[in-house]
Amino acid sequence: MSLLKIAFIFSLFLQVLLCVSGGEHVVPYDGMVITSDTLLAHGDYYLPHGISIGSSNIFLNLNNSTLRGGSNQNVGITLDGYSNVYIGNGRITNYYYGIKISNGRGNEIAGLELFANWQDPNAQNPTPPSLDINVTPEDYGDKKNFGGGMWISNNNGIKLHHHYLHDQENGVDLFNVTDATITNNRFETHVGWCLHIWKSQGTSLNKNSFKNCVRRSSKDRDFSGNSAAVLITCGSSDSVIQSSTFVNSGSAFIISGFPTLKKDECCPSTSNIILQNKIDQVVRGAFEDSFSNQNQYLSNNITNVGYGFLGMYLSGNTIIGGNRITNATHHGIILGHSNNNQIVGNIIKNTTLGNQIELWTDLKEHYNPLSYQCLQLKNQQNSSNNEIISNIFEANSNFAINLINTTQSLIYNNYINLLKKAKSIKEEGLSFGNQWYTAKQNFPNICNGENTGGNYYSDYTGKERWQKDGFGDTPYNDNNLINEYDKLPLICKKKLNSTEREMDFKLTSLFLKKYLKTFKLSKFLTK
Ligand SMILES: *[C@@H]1O[C@H](CO)[C@@H](O)[C@H](O)[C@H]1NC(C)=O
Ligand SMILES: *[C@@H]1O[C@H](CO)[C@@H](O)[C@H](O)[C@H]1NC(C)=O
Ligand SMILES: *[C@@H]1O[C@H](CO)[C@@H](O)[C@H](O)[C@H]1NC(C)=O
Ligand SMILES: *[C@@H]1O[C@H](CO)[C@@H](O)[C@H](O)[C@H]1NC(C)=O
Ligand SMILES: *[C@@H]1O[C@H](CO)[C@@H](O)[C@H](O)[C@H]1NC(C)=O
Ligand SMILES: *[C@@H]1O[C@H](CO)[C@@H](O)[C@H](O)[C@H]1NC(C)=O
Ligand SMILES: *[C@@H]1O[C@H](CO)[C@@H](O)[C@H](O)[C@H]1NC(C)=O
Ligand SMILES: *[C@@H]1O[C@H](CO)[C@@H](O)[C@H](O)[C@H]1NC(C)=O
Ligand SMILES: *[C@@H]1O[C@H](CO)[C@@H](O)[C@H](O)[C@H]1NC(C)=O
Repeated sequence: MSLLKIAFIFSLFLQVLLCVSGGEHVVPYDGMVITSDTLLAHGDYYLPHGISIGSSNIFLNLNNSTLRGGSNQNVGITLDGYSNVYIGNGRITNYYYGIKISNGRGNEIAGLELFANWQDPNAQNPTPPSLDINVTPEDYGDKKNFGGGMWISNNNGIKLHHHYLHDQENGVDLFNVTDATITNNRFETHVGWCLHIWKSQGTSLNKNSFKNCVRRSSKDRDFSGNSAAVLITCGSSDSVIQSSTFVNSGSAFIISGFPTLKKDECCPSTSNIILQNKIDQVVRGAFEDSFSNQNQYLSNNITNVGYGFLGMYLSGNTIIGGNRITNATHHGIILGHSNNNQIVGNIIKNTTLGNQIELWTDLKEHYNPLSYQCLQLKNQQNSSNNEIISNIFEANSNFAINLINTTQSLIYNNYINLLKKAKSIKEEGLSFGNQWYTAKQNFPNICNGENTGGNYYSDYTGKERWQKDGFGDTPYNDNNLINEYDKLPLICKKKLNSTEREMDFKLTSLFLKKYLKTFKLSKFLTK
């Protein structure tokens, strides 16, 4: 069923509900304060100062009316300090924000079309100004980073569903909001952030669609200007974002936390789960994650992007698992200055310019830990203790895996299929202590052989060793490993054919499940 159809059926349901709750058909006036259940007379109303809610526990049914601001100033509907208010079924346009909700709990807003509220005209410049991802609610009124569909601050348990938001600066901004539920919304054509989550915990997103969330309809990644479909920032944690589609974004996700010098006001955004989304056409990165830890990116289908995953200063337990990354023009997955993270069970194909997976550091400390305490940047100069396990590489340019100044990392059970001029694996700079195999384990390997040990390389020339246990008789090193060789390279009795390589998560799911059990995520991995 199309989203519009669902929205329509929903609005009928809402109307029935609101009819029962009674009320005459009210014609709104500019500045009106609504204090009881209200059903508007259907109409197109010019209300430059909007209307506001003045009581808790009421319904406002807009009856498919349009509220118009006219000059992109003020707010269409203001709800400040009230709870359990239900607003639905209408259209709001030409304000600074269509709706502004603050200080309350249990509110529910549904079935609105919010469109052509504020949008920065400079965003359309050939070189638009970059957005400031650390902008704070105190900057309300800002015309570069703010304005658009909904502003929501200091609320608990708000529900937003079946909205159509389009042609604005931002779709929805959440500030200090806990346990919001955001489902079945359509976000389209915003030049800032379609959804902006700031210091908000436990946000749950399901079945939303995001289209054209990009600063400028440009293919030039230098002008994406920090625009994103979803921006999660300043200590926003424990969100679950799943089963949504993303088409044409600046970045699909920017997840971050970065304090101003010597203040701890903007700490890492952690423990967010990004699951089973479909992401297509991204100017910069499908995922950009920095100064964080414990975010999990699982089973997302990513196509036609600049970067699949661009990570910086990830301080531990970021899991990039079971994703399929096809057609990245730059790197498939790149982590800089990052430690103790896991890249497991992904399929990476057709990475045209960069490496399929790159881990790197320049070995320098760029952020004084005493000045940026809440970032907990332990060993920030390192790229160490990361794991790259059970991934499938269809490499057709550069390296499948490139480790630069990277130490103590573990790389095994990957399937590295080299096509065209692709190169296999490489260590550069001060890389040491990396291990390209584990001790033999009796657990099915990536080609369904009996034992797990090293990696499969399509250019390996050795034969199976005398034990006939699925490993090669000579170590693998294509002259690009500085120290250790892969001493247990896999001999795949049956090479994976193209259909099997397309089977995506099934092949690796066994391994992924075993691997992720420790993270109690198996409930998400039923597929
Ligand atoms: C919507 O407004 C029209 C005109 O004012 C009215 O006839 C109709 O009953 C209203 N809808 C509902 C669900 O009450
Ligand atoms: C709501 O109003 C818009 C135009 O204002 C109209 O296109 C649409 O058909 C109306 N929807 C319903 C369910 O009446
Ligand atoms: C966050 O919102 C809660 C209400 O939901 C409020 O009590 C608290 O003061 C807010 N914190 C800030 C920093 O605004
Ligand atoms: C991922 O998307 C591609 C392109 O739309 C599609 O062909 C493929 O079947 C999808 N894979 C999964 C596992 O959904
Ligand atoms: C990869 O890019 C090629 C060329 O643009 C396109 O034909 C193909 O469909 C893309 N693959 C996916 C999965 O989108
Ligand atoms: C790989 O991606 C490039 C563009 O980045 C595209 O031109 C080419 O067709 C793609 N190849 C395949 C096999 O999808
Ligand atoms: C590795 O670290 C050294 C020392 O800082 C630096 O000079 C070099 O550029 C790094 N290598 C790469 C490829 O970044
Ligand atoms: C950090 O990297 C250095 C080498 O650059 C290495 O000696 C050290 O063991 C690493 N630290 C950790 C915690 O892995
Ligand atoms: C690939 O392998 C699968 C099962 O492993 C088989 O069903 C399929 O026919 C094979 N496809 C090709 C093109 O050989």
